[in-house]
Amino acid sequence: MKPKRVIITGANSGIGKAAALKFAEEGHVVIMACRNIKKSLPVQQEISKKTNNSSVLLKKLDVSTFNSIEQFCDEIKQEFDHIDILINNAAYFNHGSDYKLSDDDIEITFATNVVGPFLLTHLLKNLLSRSDDPRVLNAGSNIIKHFLNPKKEIDFSNLRGENVNDPAHSVYINYRNSKMALLMLTFKMADFFKPEGIKVNSIQINGATMSEESLQKIKPGWRIIARFQNLFFRPPEYTADLYYRLCTSIEYRNHTGIQFNHRAELMRPAVTEGGLLTDIKQALGSDVYPSYADRKDITEIVWNRCREMTREYITLDS
Ligand SMILES: NC(=O)c1ccc[n+]([C@@H]2O[C@H](COP(=O)([O-])OP(=O)(O)OC[C@H]3O[C@@H](n4cnc5c(N)ncnc54)[C@H](OP(=O)(O)O)[C@@H]3O)[C@@H](O)[C@H]2O)c1
Repeated sequence: MKPKRVIITGANSGIGKAAALKFAEEGHVVIMACRNIKKSLPVQQEISKKTNNSSVLLKKLDVSTFNSIEQFCDEIKQEFDHIDILINNAAYFNHGSDYKLSDDDIEITFATNVVGPFLLTHLLKNLLSRSDDPRVLNAGSNIIKHFLNPKKEIDFSNLRGENVNDPAHSVYINYRNSKMALLMLTFKMADFFKPEGIKVNSIQINGATMSEESLQKIKPGWRIIARFQNLFFRPPEYTADLYYRLCTSIEYRNHTGIQFNHRAELMRPAVTEGGLLTDIKQALGSDVYPSYADRKDITEIVWNRCREMTREYITLDS
């Protein structure tokens, strides 16, 4: 395979790091897009040394901050004439943390997990469109299964600090909503970028063991739960291999607007009138995603909120 140029956000730990290692092992040009250079430099050096690949690069990117995204993209445009793969892997999920706004005054979970990937993908559009097989992969989560319950909805009412002291604030709920919003964006971006030949897909991750460092980011109560979950979760390398397959294999070359499961199978929307047994089967399995993700009215809200928030950085025709 011809070496690909891949950008992986949040590549200094967990699945992102394992993915950077996998792509580097296979001889590709890896751009590790990380917010903390000091912390990420030893990781880049380790990957480069282990794989004997001198094309493992480290660039600063805080995906929750528009200025940082713009600077990162400017730098990439100066250095490269095209990019083949973008993996929107970085995410904020510091469960138990207080309500927090990003530098652009956007609720931090939504800023990092939704608006950041939206802006980054749009700003890289021209570089991606120059690849002969451009692919974007968004890191989803099985947390969206909550939306199998028809009462669950994305709450858009507190994204700009409208109620910073909301007693009902929960990173867990914001994270759940953000991953649903990201899936909706995936479907919408797949259509939007079709004329450029850019394929946009999502992978539903069912869990990956969290590193000690990641565990330290979440509040003690949540940490205990995460440690327990770690006993059952697959190592990050498992999902990293899936990232690799979905982004490079000829098998997926023409797929776009797909939510893949942890076996790299195509998921389909859940049925809502199937009865109790079907509901249970759907909730326990990994064959379907909640049909809420196909709601065009909510998708338009997500898309338009992202557009409004990023209007100083991009102008879109539709
Ligand atoms: N682990 C799971 O069980 C699980 C389950 C479902 C989905 N996922 C998804 O899988 C992806 C990877 O998660 P992981 O388990 O590998 O977690 P992780 O080890 O905590 O990695 C998250 C990465 O995102 C980076 N990041 C966070 N905010 C950022 C920002 N503003 N700008 C740039 N980078 C930022 C972190 O950087 P720092 O080191 O600087 O914080 C870190 O490198 C995420 O999208 C997550 O939602 C994970």
